[in-house]
Amino acid sequence: MLPSPAQLAALDAADPLYFARARFRLPPGIVYLDGNSLGPLPAALPERLAQTVASEWGDGLIRSWNDAGWIDLPVSLGAAIAPIVGAEPASVVACDSVSLNLFKLASAALALRPGRRTILMEASDFPTDAYVMQGLAQLAGVTLKRVERADLTAALDGDVALLLLTHAHYVASQVHDMAAMSAAAHKAGALSLWDLSHSAGALVVNLDADGADFAVGCGYKFLNGGPGAPAFAYMARRHWDTAEPALTGWMGHAAPFDFTADYAPAAGARRLLTGTPPILAMRALEAGVATFDGIDLAAAESKSRQLVHLFAAGAATLPGVTVDAPPAVRHGAHVIIRHPEARRLMTALIARGVIGDMRPPDAMRFGFPALTTRFADIGLALEALQAVLTSDEWREERFAPRGIVS
Ligand SMILES: Cc1ncc(COP(=O)(O)O)c(C=O)c1O
Repeated sequence: MLPSPAQLAALDAADPLYFARARFRLPPGIVYLDGNSLGPLPAALPERLAQTVASEWGDGLIRSWNDAGWIDLPVSLGAAIAPIVGAEPASVVACDSVSLNLFKLASAALALRPGRRTILMEASDFPTDAYVMQGLAQLAGVTLKRVERADLTAALDGDVALLLLTHAHYVASQVHDMAAMSAAAHKAGALSLWDLSHSAGALVVNLDADGADFAVGCGYKFLNGGPGAPAFAYMARRHWDTAEPALTGWMGHAAPFDFTADYAPAAGARRLLTGTPPILAMRALEAGVATFDGIDLAAAESKSRQLVHLFAAGAATLPGVTVDAPPAVRHGAHVIIRHPEARRLMTALIARGVIGDMRPPDAMRFGFPALTTRFADIGLALEALQAVLTSDEWREERFAPRGIVS
């Protein structure tokens, strides 16, 4: 049975995070369930960006590198992201993409474990994680071992230098126990690197307390930093003096403006920086991160959990689809609904104003970020999904697959 509008209205009325939706500019008539891929526009962002362009760039010109704090933005923004992932401020920097940061940190881990020749990761993790590790393994002459989740611990042998894990899986939504897996890696003499792309801003994350060595995460998903927003990178304090990422650019130099001939790493996480930071994108990410001011992440995780379960239970009553049961213990802020024609169905659903995404071959993915999703959205989305499924409209030519991005 689908939840009643009255039941959902009561949940919205009692929701301690309902106020946060006003921090965003969401188009009327749209039910947006894809903040796990691209967060919506923070309401304060356009003005902040306009001011950066007109005042900091237009008037300040090159002086703004110092006067407007541009040169320190990767570090100050990293410090703003740090509490969202349970890290001390100086251990996080905002820079580059997740892919690049994975390379930097994994190369640093290999250098910290000389003699060990294996990078271990989960077979089904997000493709870029595997692709980057394949390239690095080839370059460094080490082996990339990809195993099923259940076999990870057994595969942690004396040759593993690095265990790379995605905290919340991008499809299955399962969440690793960060403390347990980091401890298992350490027990085997290896280091841990965590991809927080589907966790940062969605789940409670405690990098420092859980013993993570390194981590990366997305700026454009739950952190609402805009399309292609800079990513972030984390390095635990115990590695600040010894980690040596293989990408050594001038922004990670101890004294970039001394223009010396040879590389010398900056202290701490700053050495993870490479080239000139994209200031406009950094300011946008700053506005995105500010949408978390005063947000209790435990409340956010628990609200997303409730939304996922309500939606999953409602979808399970609809014809022709199967619902991936949300993992029992803990899970990410999205759920998968399967249908062989997922791509067409999602296109038809989007035409009705309900936006999710799809992952091949048959997964429709719906995300429920706590800051922007109302309980009422569950009812609207289920109603639209029911209409699409029962009308057969998704078979129409206009819903045939188009475009590359799904
Ligand atoms: C788990 C995970 N890692 C990495 C990425 C993307 O990395 P990048 O920011 O380098 O494109 C995604 C994108 O969806 C992801 O889900």
